[in-house]
Amino acid sequence: MTEVVTAVVPATPEGLERAAALLRDGAIVAMPTETVYGLAGNALDEDALLAIFSAKQRPLFDPLIAHIAMPRHTVNILDYLEHCRLCALDQLTPATRDRLDDLLSALWPGPLTVVVPRAERVPDLLTSGLPSVAVRMPAHPTAQALLRLVDFPLAAPSANRFGRLSPTTAAAVKSELAGRVPLILDGGACQVGVESTIVGLDTDERLRLLRPGGVPIETIEAHWGVPVPRATGDKIEAPGQLASHYAPRTPLRIVERVGVVSGRVGVLFATADRAVGATASRVLAPSGDSREAARRLFALLRELDDTGIDEIVAERWPDEVGLGLAINDRLRRAAAVTTTKP
Ligand code: TXA
Ligand code: MG
Repeated sequence: MTEVVTAVVPATPEGLERAAALLRDGAIVAMPTETVYGLAGNALDEDALLAIFSAKQRPLFDPLIAHIAMPRHTVNILDYLEHCRLCALDQLTPATRDRLDDLLSALWPGPLTVVVPRAERVPDLLTSGLPSVAVRMPAHPTAQALLRLVDFPLAAPSANRFGRLSPTTAAAVKSELAGRVPLILDGGACQVGVESTIVGLDTDERLRLLRPGGVPIETIEAHWGVPVPRATGDKIEAPGQLASHYAPRTPLRIVERVGVVSGRVGVLFATADRAVGATASRVLAPSGDSREAARRLFALLRELDDTGIDEIVAERWPDEVGLGLAINDRLRRAAAVTTTKP
Protein backbone atom coordinates (compact mmCIF):
# COMPACT_ATOMS: atom_id res chain seq x y z
CA MET A 1 0.00 0.00 0.00
CA THR A 2 1.11 3.60 -0.56
CA GLU A 3 2.52 5.29 2.51
CA VAL A 4 0.56 8.27 3.84
CA VAL A 5 1.55 10.90 6.37
CA THR A 6 -0.18 10.16 9.66
CA ALA A 7 -1.46 13.18 11.64
CA VAL A 8 -2.33 12.77 15.33
CA VAL A 9 -5.07 15.29 16.00
CA PRO A 10 -6.80 16.15 19.30
CA ALA A 11 -10.50 15.36 19.40
CA THR A 12 -11.58 19.01 19.22
CA PRO A 13 -14.48 20.19 17.02
CA GLU A 14 -11.91 21.00 14.30
CA GLY A 15 -10.23 17.59 14.63
CA LEU A 16 -13.60 15.87 14.45
CA GLU A 17 -14.55 17.84 11.34
CA ARG A 18 -11.27 16.86 9.65
CA ALA A 19 -11.87 13.20 10.49
CA ALA A 20 -15.48 13.39 9.25
CA ALA A 21 -14.38 14.98 5.96
CA LEU A 22 -11.91 12.13 5.37
CA LEU A 23 -14.57 9.53 6.16
CA ARG A 24 -17.09 11.20 3.81
CA ASP A 25 -14.39 10.97 1.11
CA GLY A 26 -14.18 7.21 1.64
CA ALA A 27 -10.90 7.34 3.61
CA ILE A 28 -10.20 5.68 6.97
CA VAL A 29 -9.32 7.27 10.34
CA ALA A 30 -8.44 5.96 13.80
CA MET A 31 -10.84 6.96 16.59
CA PRO A 32 -11.01 6.39 20.32
CA THR A 33 -13.77 4.27 21.81
CA GLU A 34 -14.24 3.41 25.49
CA THR A 35 -12.81 -0.09 24.87
CA VAL A 36 -9.82 0.30 22.49
CA TYR A 37 -9.01 2.56 19.54
CA GLY A 38 -10.77 1.60 16.31
CA LEU A 39 -9.78 1.97 12.66
CA ALA A 40 -12.95 3.45 11.18
CA GLY A 41 -14.42 3.63 7.69
CA ASN A 42 -17.88 3.82 6.12
CA ALA A 43 -19.46 0.43 6.89
CA LEU A 44 -21.57 0.63 3.71
CA ASP A 45 -18.70 1.46 1.34
CA GLU A 46 -16.75 -1.52 -0.01
CA ASP A 47 -13.70 0.57 -0.90
CA ALA A 48 -13.48 1.95 2.62
CA LEU A 49 -13.82 -1.59 4.01
CA LEU A 50 -11.03 -2.81 1.74
CA ALA A 51 -8.86 0.08 2.95
CA ILE A 52 -9.41 -1.07 6.56
CA PHE A 53 -8.48 -4.69 5.79
CA SER A 54 -5.43 -3.56 3.86
CA ALA A 55 -4.14 -1.11 6.51
CA LYS A 56 -4.50 -3.76 9.22
CA GLN A 57 -3.22 -6.61 7.02
CA ARG A 58 -6.32 -8.41 8.18
CA PRO A 59 -7.64 -11.46 6.31
CA LEU A 60 -11.01 -10.92 4.62
CA PHE A 61 -12.58 -13.85 6.49
CA ASP A 62 -12.51 -11.89 9.76
CA PRO A 63 -15.76 -9.82 9.85
CA LEU A 64 -15.99 -6.27 11.20
CA ILE A 65 -18.27 -4.58 13.74
CA ALA A 66 -20.60 -1.79 12.54
CA HIS A 67 -20.71 1.10 15.02
CA ILE A 68 -23.86 3.20 15.21
CA ALA A 69 -24.71 6.64 16.60
CA MET A 70 -26.92 7.10 19.63
CA PRO A 71 -30.48 8.11 18.73
CA ARG A 72 -31.02 11.88 18.95
CA HIS A 73 -34.33 11.47 20.76
CA THR A 74 -35.72 8.93 23.18
CA VAL A 75 -36.96 6.04 21.07
CA ASN A 76 -37.43 2.32 21.47
CA ILE A 77 -33.99 0.80 20.94
CA LEU A 78 -35.18 -1.96 18.58
CA ASP A 79 -37.13 0.53 16.44
CA TYR A 80 -33.97 2.58 16.27
CA LEU A 81 -31.88 -0.45 15.31
CA GLU A 82 -34.36 -1.24 12.50
CA HIS A 83 -34.10 2.37 11.39
CA CYS A 84 -30.30 1.94 11.02
CA ARG A 85 -31.06 -0.69 8.33
CA LEU A 86 -28.15 -2.96 9.21
CA CYS A 87 -30.12 -5.90 10.54
CA ALA A 88 -33.27 -7.91 9.86
CA LEU A 89 -34.81 -8.17 13.32
CA ASP A 90 -38.11 -9.37 11.83
CA GLN A 91 -36.40 -12.74 11.47
CA LEU A 92 -36.43 -13.09 15.27
CA THR A 93 -39.32 -14.36 17.38
CA PRO A 94 -41.23 -11.78 19.47
CA ALA A 95 -39.83 -13.34 22.68
CA THR A 96 -36.25 -12.87 21.47
CA ARG A 97 -36.98 -9.33 20.36
CA ASP A 98 -38.29 -8.55 23.86
CA ARG A 99 -35.13 -9.93 25.45
CA LEU A 100 -32.94 -8.01 23.02
CA ASP A 101 -34.92 -4.87 23.83
CA ASP A 102 -34.24 -5.33 27.57
CA LEU A 103 -30.57 -6.08 26.96
CA LEU A 104 -29.82 -3.19 24.63
CA SER A 105 -31.95 -0.65 26.54
CA ALA A 106 -29.86 -1.43 29.60
CA LEU A 107 -26.38 -1.73 28.11
CA TRP A 108 -26.19 0.57 25.08
CA PRO A 109 -24.29 2.76 24.57
CA GLY A 110 -21.42 0.69 25.94
CA PRO A 111 -18.88 -2.08 25.38
CA LEU A 112 -21.40 -4.65 24.09
CA THR A 113 -21.60 -5.97 20.50
CA VAL A 114 -24.57 -8.04 19.32
CA VAL A 115 -24.51 -10.37 16.32
CA VAL A 116 -27.96 -10.41 14.68
CA PRO A 117 -29.44 -11.35 11.27
CA ARG A 118 -28.16 -8.92 8.66
CA ALA A 119 -30.07 -6.62 6.32
CA GLU A 120 -29.68 -7.07 2.58
CA ARG A 121 -27.86 -3.81 1.90
CA VAL A 122 -24.96 -4.70 4.24
CA PRO A 123 -21.80 -5.39 2.17
CA ASP A 124 -20.47 -8.95 2.26
CA LEU A 125 -17.06 -7.51 3.07
CA LEU A 126 -18.35 -6.26 6.42
CA THR A 127 -19.70 -9.66 7.49
CA SER A 128 -17.29 -11.89 5.54
CA GLY A 129 -20.37 -13.22 3.76
CA LEU A 130 -22.03 -14.42 6.98
CA PRO A 131 -25.84 -14.13 7.25
CA SER A 132 -25.35 -12.09 10.44
CA VAL A 133 -23.91 -8.68 11.28
CA ALA A 134 -22.13 -7.42 14.41
CA VAL A 135 -23.43 -4.07 15.73
CA ARG A 136 -22.25 -1.88 18.61
CA MET A 137 -23.21 1.56 19.94
CA PRO A 138 -20.02 2.91 21.55
CA ALA A 139 -20.25 5.19 24.60
CA HIS A 140 -17.12 7.28 23.98
CA PRO A 141 -18.13 10.91 23.32
CA THR A 142 -15.59 11.28 20.48
CA ALA A 143 -16.79 8.15 18.69
CA GLN A 144 -20.37 9.34 19.14
CA ALA A 145 -19.61 12.86 17.89
CA LEU A 146 -17.92 11.42 14.79
CA LEU A 147 -20.79 9.01 14.08
CA ARG A 148 -23.23 11.91 14.25
CA LEU A 149 -21.15 14.07 11.93
CA VAL A 150 -20.93 11.45 9.19
CA ASP A 151 -24.44 10.02 9.28
CA PHE A 152 -23.42 6.50 8.24
CA PRO A 153 -22.38 3.51 10.36
CA LEU A 154 -18.65 3.06 10.88
CA ALA A 155 -16.92 -0.28 10.55
CA ALA A 156 -14.17 -0.22 13.17
CA PRO A 157 -11.90 -3.08 14.07
CA SER A 158 -9.27 -2.43 16.71
CA ALA A 159 -6.60 -0.11 15.26
CA ASN A 160 -3.72 -2.60 15.38
CA ARG A 161 -2.11 -4.74 12.75
CA PHE A 162 -3.76 -8.17 12.57
CA GLY A 163 -2.95 -10.44 15.50
CA ARG A 164 -1.19 -7.74 17.51
CA LEU A 165 -2.10 -6.03 20.79
CA SER A 166 -5.07 -3.67 20.57
CA PRO A 167 -4.11 0.00 21.10
CA THR A 168 -5.53 1.91 24.06
CA THR A 169 -3.79 5.25 23.37
CA ALA A 170 -3.24 7.38 20.26
CA ALA A 171 0.52 6.77 20.60
CA ALA A 172 -0.05 3.01 20.48
CA VAL A 173 -2.17 3.43 17.33
CA LYS A 174 0.66 5.42 15.80
CA SER A 175 3.20 2.71 16.54
CA GLU A 176 0.88 0.16 14.88
CA LEU A 177 -0.36 2.10 11.87
CA ALA A 178 1.91 5.09 11.11
CA GLY A 179 2.04 5.55 7.33
CA ARG A 180 -1.12 3.46 6.92
CA VAL A 181 -3.81 5.88 8.14
CA PRO A 182 -4.01 9.63 7.40
CA LEU A 183 -5.44 10.71 10.75
CA ILE A 184 -5.59 9.49 14.35
CA LEU A 185 -8.09 11.29 16.59
CA ASP A 186 -6.54 11.53 20.05
CA GLY A 187 -9.16 11.10 22.76
CA GLY A 188 -6.79 10.08 25.57
CA ALA A 189 -6.45 6.63 27.13
CA CYS A 190 -9.36 4.20 26.76
CA GLN A 191 -11.25 3.68 30.01
CA VAL A 192 -12.32 0.04 29.57
CA GLY A 193 -9.11 -1.24 27.96
CA VAL A 194 -10.33 -4.55 26.52
CA GLU A 195 -12.60 -4.95 23.49
CA SER A 196 -16.37 -5.16 23.66
CA THR A 197 -18.14 -8.32 24.78
CA ILE A 198 -19.64 -10.03 21.72
CA VAL A 199 -22.83 -12.07 22.03
CA GLY A 200 -24.78 -13.76 19.25
CA LEU A 201 -27.90 -15.88 18.81
CA ASP A 202 -27.67 -19.55 17.88
CA THR A 203 -30.21 -21.24 15.59
CA ASP A 204 -32.57 -21.71 18.57
CA GLU A 205 -32.17 -18.01 19.39
CA ARG A 206 -30.30 -18.76 22.58
CA LEU A 207 -27.74 -16.12 23.43
CA ARG A 208 -24.10 -17.25 23.23
CA LEU A 209 -20.94 -15.54 24.39
CA LEU A 210 -18.64 -15.19 21.35
CA ARG A 211 -15.95 -13.05 22.97
CA PRO A 212 -15.66 -11.99 26.63
CA GLY A 213 -15.00 -8.26 26.92
CA GLY A 214 -15.89 -4.96 28.55
CA VAL A 215 -19.35 -5.94 29.84
CA PRO A 216 -19.18 -8.82 32.34
CA ILE A 217 -21.19 -11.83 31.20
CA GLU A 218 -22.95 -11.78 34.60
CA THR A 219 -24.36 -8.34 33.72
CA ILE A 220 -25.58 -9.60 30.35
CA GLU A 221 -27.25 -12.61 31.99
CA ALA A 222 -29.03 -10.35 34.46
CA HIS A 223 -30.69 -8.49 31.57
CA TRP A 224 -31.22 -11.49 29.26
CA GLY A 225 -32.97 -13.36 32.04
CA VAL A 226 -31.48 -16.82 31.48
CA PRO A 227 -27.94 -18.19 31.82
CA VAL A 228 -25.68 -17.53 28.82
CA PRO A 229 -23.31 -20.39 28.02
CA ARG A 230 -19.61 -19.41 27.96
CA ALA A 231 -17.93 -20.38 24.70
CA THR A 232 -16.32 -23.77 25.14
CA GLY A 233 -13.34 -22.68 23.07
CA ASP A 234 -13.27 -25.92 21.08
CA LYS A 235 -15.04 -24.48 18.04
CA ILE A 236 -14.19 -21.22 16.33
CA GLU A 237 -17.37 -19.26 15.69
CA ALA A 238 -15.90 -15.78 15.54
CA PRO A 239 -12.42 -15.13 14.17
CA GLY A 240 -11.62 -13.14 17.33
CA GLN A 241 -11.72 -16.60 18.89
CA LEU A 242 -8.63 -17.65 16.96
CA ALA A 243 -6.19 -18.83 19.59
CA SER A 244 -3.42 -16.55 18.39
CA HIS A 245 -4.68 -13.00 18.68
CA TYR A 246 -3.86 -9.91 20.69
CA ALA A 247 -0.20 -10.86 20.95
CA PRO A 248 2.96 -8.98 21.90
CA ARG A 249 6.09 -9.66 19.83
CA THR A 250 7.81 -11.16 22.86
CA PRO A 251 6.77 -14.75 23.71
CA LEU A 252 4.44 -14.79 26.70
CA ARG A 253 3.90 -17.49 29.33
CA ILE A 254 1.10 -17.56 31.91
CA VAL A 255 1.68 -18.83 35.45
CA GLU A 256 -0.48 -18.87 38.59
CA ARG A 257 2.10 -17.02 40.63
CA VAL A 258 5.58 -15.90 39.61
CA GLY A 259 8.51 -17.32 41.60
CA VAL A 260 12.16 -16.37 41.16
CA VAL A 261 13.07 -15.72 37.51
CA SER A 262 16.40 -15.50 35.74
CA GLY A 263 17.46 -14.25 32.32
CA ARG A 264 16.02 -11.35 30.41
CA VAL A 265 12.47 -11.81 31.66
CA GLY A 266 9.70 -9.24 32.09
CA VAL A 267 7.01 -9.99 34.65
CA LEU A 268 3.40 -8.88 34.62
CA PHE A 269 2.19 -9.34 38.21
CA ALA A 270 -1.55 -9.51 38.85
CA THR A 271 -1.87 -7.35 41.97
CA ALA A 272 1.51 -6.91 43.72
CA ASP A 273 5.21 -6.80 42.77
CA ARG A 274 7.20 -9.39 44.75
CA ALA A 275 10.67 -8.43 43.45
CA VAL A 276 11.59 -11.79 41.93
CA GLY A 277 14.66 -10.63 40.03
CA ALA A 278 13.03 -9.75 36.71
CA THR A 279 14.64 -7.41 34.17
CA ALA A 280 11.38 -5.45 34.04
CA SER A 281 8.14 -5.74 35.94
CA ARG A 282 4.68 -4.20 35.98
CA VAL A 283 1.65 -4.67 38.23
CA LEU A 284 -1.65 -5.06 36.43
CA ALA A 285 -3.90 -3.76 39.20
CA PRO A 286 -2.44 -2.61 42.54
CA SER A 287 -6.03 -2.04 43.70
CA GLY A 288 -6.96 -5.67 43.01
CA ASP A 289 -9.90 -4.40 40.93
CA SER A 290 -10.40 -6.27 37.63
CA ARG A 291 -11.60 -3.06 35.96
CA GLU A 292 -8.25 -1.45 36.68
CA ALA A 293 -6.51 -4.59 35.38
CA ALA A 294 -8.49 -4.53 32.11
CA ARG A 295 -7.86 -0.83 31.62
CA ARG A 296 -4.07 -1.31 31.93
CA LEU A 297 -3.60 -4.75 30.35
CA PHE A 298 -2.69 -3.90 26.74
CA ALA A 299 -0.69 -0.78 27.66
CA LEU A 300 1.47 -2.71 30.16
CA LEU A 301 2.01 -5.61 27.75
CA ARG A 302 3.09 -3.06 25.15
CA GLU A 303 5.53 -1.47 27.65
CA LEU A 304 7.06 -4.83 28.53
CA ASP A 305 7.22 -5.73 24.84
CA ASP A 306 9.27 -2.59 24.23
CA THR A 307 11.88 -3.25 26.94
CA GLY A 308 13.88 -5.73 24.83
CA ILE A 309 13.36 -8.78 27.03
CA ASP A 310 13.28 -12.38 25.77
CA GLU A 311 10.13 -13.52 27.54
CA ILE A 312 7.11 -12.11 29.33
CA VAL A 313 5.80 -14.10 32.29
CA ALA A 314 2.28 -13.05 33.23
CA GLU A 315 0.30 -14.04 36.30
CA ARG A 316 -3.17 -15.36 35.61
CA TRP A 317 -5.88 -13.01 36.95
CA PRO A 318 -7.00 -14.74 40.18
CA ASP A 319 -10.67 -15.12 39.26
CA GLU A 320 -12.87 -15.11 36.15
CA VAL A 321 -15.66 -13.01 37.62
CA GLY A 322 -16.51 -9.63 36.06
CA LEU A 323 -13.72 -8.46 33.78
CA GLY A 324 -11.47 -11.32 34.99
CA LEU A 325 -12.91 -13.55 32.23
CA ALA A 326 -11.86 -11.12 29.47
CA ILE A 327 -8.43 -10.50 31.05
CA ASN A 328 -7.54 -14.19 31.20
CA ASP A 329 -8.97 -14.71 27.72
CA ARG A 330 -6.64 -12.04 26.29
CA LEU A 331 -3.66 -13.42 28.24
CA ARG A 332 -4.35 -16.93 26.92
CA ARG A 333 -4.51 -15.66 23.34
CA ALA A 334 -1.30 -13.67 23.78
CA ALA A 335 0.36 -16.83 25.12
CA ALA A 336 -0.89 -19.01 22.25
CA VAL A 337 1.44 -17.44 19.68
CA THR A 338 4.98 -18.37 19.01
CA THR A 339 6.49 -15.28 17.47
CA THR A 340 9.97 -14.46 16.38
CA LYS A 341 11.13 -10.98 17.16
CA PRO A 342 12.07 -8.89 14.14
O1 TXA B 1 -14.42 -3.00 21.41
C1 TXA B 1 -14.49 -3.38 20.24
O2 TXA B 1 -15.32 -4.22 19.86
C2 TXA B 1 -13.49 -2.76 19.25
C3 TXA B 1 -13.77 -1.26 19.16
C4 TXA B 1 -12.93 -0.58 18.14
O3 TXA B 1 -15.14 -1.05 18.92
N1 TXA B 1 -13.57 -3.42 17.98
C5 TXA B 1 -13.12 -4.69 17.80
O4 TXA B 1 -13.21 -5.12 16.50
O5 TXA B 1 -12.67 -5.36 18.69
P1 TXA B 1 -12.40 -6.36 15.94
O6 TXA B 1 -12.51 -6.26 14.46
O7 TXA B 1 -11.03 -6.37 16.48
O8 TXA B 1 -13.22 -7.60 16.36
C6 TXA B 1 -14.40 -7.93 15.64
C7 TXA B 1 -14.79 -9.34 15.89
C8 TXA B 1 -14.35 -10.30 14.82
O9 TXA B 1 -13.03 -10.73 14.99
C9 TXA B 1 -15.33 -11.41 15.01
O10 TXA B 1 -14.84 -12.23 16.05
C10 TXA B 1 -16.58 -10.72 15.52
O11 TXA B 1 -16.21 -9.41 15.84
N2 TXA B 1 -17.64 -10.65 14.50
C11 TXA B 1 -17.92 -9.67 13.64
N3 TXA B 1 -18.97 -9.98 12.86
C12 TXA B 1 -19.38 -11.20 13.23
C13 TXA B 1 -20.42 -12.08 12.82
N4 TXA B 1 -21.25 -11.76 11.83
N5 TXA B 1 -20.53 -13.26 13.45
C14 TXA B 1 -19.68 -13.60 14.45
N6 TXA B 1 -18.69 -12.81 14.89
C15 TXA B 1 -18.53 -11.63 14.29
MG1 MG C 1 -9.07 -6.74 17.08
